[in-house]
Amino acid sequence: MNDTTAGGDVRLVGISKTYGDSFTAVHPLDLTVPQGAFFALLGASGCGKTTTLRLIAGLEDPTTGSVFLGDRDVTGLPPYKRPVNTVFQSYALFPHLSIYENVAFGLRRRGIRSVKKQVGEMLDLVQLGDFASRRPHQLSGGQQQRVAVARALINHPRVLLLDEPLGALDLKLRRQMQLELQRIQTEVGITFVHVTHDQEEAMTMADTVAVMNGGRVEQLGAPAELYENPATTFVANFLGTSNLIAAEVTSVSGGEIAVTAANTRLRLPAARCATVPTAGGKLLVGIRPEKISLSYAGDTDDTDTDTDATATVSDGRNRITGTIAASSFLGVSTQYLIDTPVGPALEVYVQNIERDPRLTPGAPVTVHWSPDHTFGLDAAQDIGAGVATAAGSAGAAS
Ligand SMILES: Nc1ncnc2c1ncn2[C@@H]1O[C@H](COP(=O)(O)OP(=O)(O)O)[C@@H](O)[C@H]1O
Ligand SMILES: [Mg+2]
Repeated sequence: MNDTTAGGDVRLVGISKTYGDSFTAVHPLDLTVPQGAFFALLGASGCGKTTTLRLIAGLEDPTTGSVFLGDRDVTGLPPYKRPVNTVFQSYALFPHLSIYENVAFGLRRRGIRSVKKQVGEMLDLVQLGDFASRRPHQLSGGQQQRVAVARALINHPRVLLLDEPLGALDLKLRRQMQLELQRIQTEVGITFVHVTHDQEEAMTMADTVAVMNGGRVEQLGAPAELYENPATTFVANFLGTSNLIAAEVTSVSGGEIAVTAANTRLRLPAARCATVPTAGGKLLVGIRPEKISLSYAGDTDDTDTDTDATATVSDGRNRITGTIAASSFLGVSTQYLIDTPVGPALEVYVQNIERDPRLTPGAPVTVHWSPDHTFGLDAAQDIGAGVATAAGSAGAAS
């Protein structure tokens, strides 16, 4: 690792990978990972995440396109000549070597004799200084994973690639390791490209997330940006949960779109539409479950003379009447499924502050939300894309 180019972005230019002569795992892809970013590649199993990572590492030859590190085209370089290291899910530690020697391995291979200082620093970085003389099997899964990270970082890579590195850990340990990896990344300041099928993991850890589907990046952005303004039904459904309502556009004016769905009039900001809507055209109207309020139907009648202002729904809100089909109490919130004229099983999360005892299955309700919280998607897409493949904390890694 004696090249002299200054750091720089990882740039994939028109990169693709076709296996055999027909199956394309990664379609021509342009992607820039800024230097120092914590970047996540998120997608369901089989969508091409590992292949993309292997193309960056040089473990796979691209069918088309190039890989740049900064200004340098590294496409033709073998893996060991790239300033890149990979951490795999299966740690791949040497079982017969101590933790110390596992971490020292990269230095020794390069003929460096005095490794003590650097190994000590790395073990401190991953908080395993006390475990130096142990063997891998004497460590927990999370500790082994930290050894794998230290072993990769000791080579001072420009970029660390992590392929589902936490996939083998149980949920609690995974949460701890997520924080740990974030701390390490902040401390060393190098680019991390983290592959995961777990949307929560991607959102909590990364500053930029690329959502992959079928060998393509569907959308790329900061977690909150992707969550609030999904551009496709796949992203809306894969990243968290979205209620998507098929509607017809009745008017577009003054930055506001009015639609109808099953004779219900709904409004949304034009600026939150991922497509250009035209009156008479179709639109998918999206709303996240936590943005919706739920009221017992009688409390929100238009003729309601109740003076309790909190129980009434102000005029400007989107509102739909329905019936509670199911409810599950989750502690911090209750999750309701509401059957409505615009569609069955509308999902609503109600924070557990005060619980209305009348909100039980069968109860007539009004769901209502601010038009500002509504987004719009192109209706030509599959409304259910990404639903079945979405994995929160469960699901198999590959
Ligand atoms: N060496 C290979 N030969 C043929 N097909 C492969 C090979 N490696 C991966 N694939 C296929 O390419 C697709 C993407 O694989 P991969 O990049 O491993 O997905 P992910 O990591 O997102 O689960 C999958 O359908 C997989 O079966
Ligand atoms: Mg994979």
